Amino acid sequence: MKHLYLLISALVLLISCEKEVDSLTEKPDFQFYTDAEYAALTQVLDLPSVLHQYKGDVALASDSRATLGRVLFYDKSLSKDGTISCASCHKQHHAFSDDIALSKGIYGRQTDRNSLALGVFSDFANTYGSDGHSGSEELFWDTRGASIHSQITETMANEKEMGMEPGEVVDALVGKRHYEILFTKAFGTPEIQHDLILSALERFMHGMTTDNSKYDRYQQTFTNSVSGGQKLSSRELRGLSLFQSQCATCHQIPINGRLFSGHKTFANNGLDINPKDQGRRKITKLEEDAAAFKIPSLRNITQTAPYMHDGRFETLEEVLDFYNEGIQSHFNLDPKLKDHQGNPKRMNFTEEDKSAIIVFLDALTDMSELSHEKFSDPWLE
Ligand code: HEC
Ligand code: HEC
Repeated sequence: MKHLYLLISALVLLISCEKEVDSLTEKPDFQFYTDAEYAALTQVLDLPSVLHQYKGDVALASDSRATLGRVLFYDKSLSKDGTISCASCHKQHHAFSDDIALSKGIYGRQTDRNSLALGVFSDFANTYGSDGHSGSEELFWDTRGASIHSQITETMANEKEMGMEPGEVVDALVGKRHYEILFTKAFGTPEIQHDLILSALERFMHGMTTDNSKYDRYQQTFTNSVSGGQKLSSRELRGLSLFQSQCATCHQIPINGRLFSGHKTFANNGLDINPKDQGRRKITKLEEDAAAFKIPSLRNITQTAPYMHDGRFETLEEVLDFYNEGIQSHFNLDPKLKDHQGNPKRMNFTEEDKSAIIVFLDALTDMSELSHEKFSDPWLE
């Protein structure tokens, strides 16, 4: 009887396991490397023998994809002169942005714009869509990137960034034992394919999240009316209220990823009367897009200086001074930054107001997930 019971429960387990694998619709189902595989990997990489877990949908398959994505993200052989990886311009300790105004790409060339931070969303996948499809927001400062896959392909081919066409990217990986192992774990095939490279990089970036800032905890306390939860100081609350009246009309701070529908994702915020960079107009050729740029997320903003598409401001104090008294009357200036007469708004912040806003912005910082080892450089040299 006992044996029969065991047999039945084993069968039930087997069937339920099978069902689970079925519903994964993703092939790979093994977590551990064989000794030989692990020995081959550890010759060049410092990876844990048990997969790190990344935030995401289907655990195993997507974790092995993110692991491959991590290795690719830090691989300099994906650039023409072998000196640049994604991480050269998207640095872990700066929420995956760069700490200089214009990043350096291959052959010491300078990029045209300030690097965009990747670790500034409560849900990267939700913000930008997944599996190559676009989300609610478009990529790049001029919002020209339609999907993560097209963005990565463009970045890799960019003559100032990595300078590699898709075929060259694949060739750079073919014949490397560690990649054969990682591709097999992630996609069930040792064959290096361009699309799979993009999916792995995308998967890795989807893991980069920030949703546990002081402000998030405060919001949760507030929404769920928890007593004794996270509080904000009176200065932070003052900053929050100023932010809500002057900034949140553009810079929304979504709690669950997506922006509220219908929200405009780009604007001209009056940086210059005669802007050098026309932003979105270069893409759409429309006057209404003149010098309009992506409205960036302000999560982790304390980690991502310098600021604006050209990195012109070194500090948040300078940004606040600009909004307070420096907005220029460009013909396409967003109406939200104009006063009743149509002139550039003067916000009339006092020094205390400005510092309250900055203290509030600091409460949007959460590097707990991002500073984890699983996002660091896995290459031994
Ligand atoms: C040489 C520096 C450099 C390298 C290398 C680089 N990037 Fe970027 N990245 C940038 C800059 C600069 C921007 C903003 C460009 C723009 O908006 O025109 C950007 C934008 C992005 C964006 C858009 C983010 C958003 O919010 O719109 C993503 C995603 C991204 N990069 C991912 C990657 C990945 C993945 C790699 C490696 C395959 C990579 N980058 C390599 C400098 C770089
Ligand atoms: C009309 C919409 C709008 C309003 C209102 C607005 N901003 Fe912005 N903000 C933008 C746009 C667009 C950019 C990007 C501009 C660029 O780089 O060309 C930006 C950029 C920024 C940046 C730099 C982000 C980065 O990653 O470099 C900060 C910080 C910022 N805004 C803070 C604020 C604060 C604080 C307020 C309120 C006092 C505010 N903004 C009000 C549209 C707006």
